[in-house]
Amino acid sequence: MSSIVRYTVSMDQRLLEKFDSQIERKGYANRSEAIRDLIRDSLVGEKWAKATEKVVATVTLVYNHHTADLRDRLADIQHHHTDIVLSTTHIHLDNDNCLEVVILRGKCKVVRSLAEKLIALKGIKHGKIVSTTEATQLW
Ligand code: NI
Repeated sequence: MSSIVRYTVSMDQRLLEKFDSQIERKGYANRSEAIRDLIRDSLVGEKWAKATEKVVATVTLVYNHHTADLRDRLADIQHHHTDIVLSTTHIHLDNDNCLEVVILRGKCKVVRSLAEKLIALKGIKHGKIVSTTEATQLW
């Protein structure tokens, strides 16, 4: 069981005012919670940088489903990585565009490589990887 530590941080007043107004907009109850989230995000980012670290990631893809072969290529890649692909959600945004969210889990190097491969497919209009780590690995 870890204990709570209090500490003091010195910084420029204007910087702190901007931070306070940002965390108020975001709905944080207090500064401590906002700073804890920043630290967690930074630590997760560091794990993501280690090739052998186990990570979980979502890959969000937006594409036009009329683009030749794109749906087949997306499905084909995922079928060849069933050990990493946990789930896929597909939403038809309008007559032409689709949103697909693929959830991946595995070693960072493999997950990142697959995510980048999906995003790089010809016809993907926008792709974004959000990486996180398993709760059991969190401090
Ligand atoms: Ni669709």
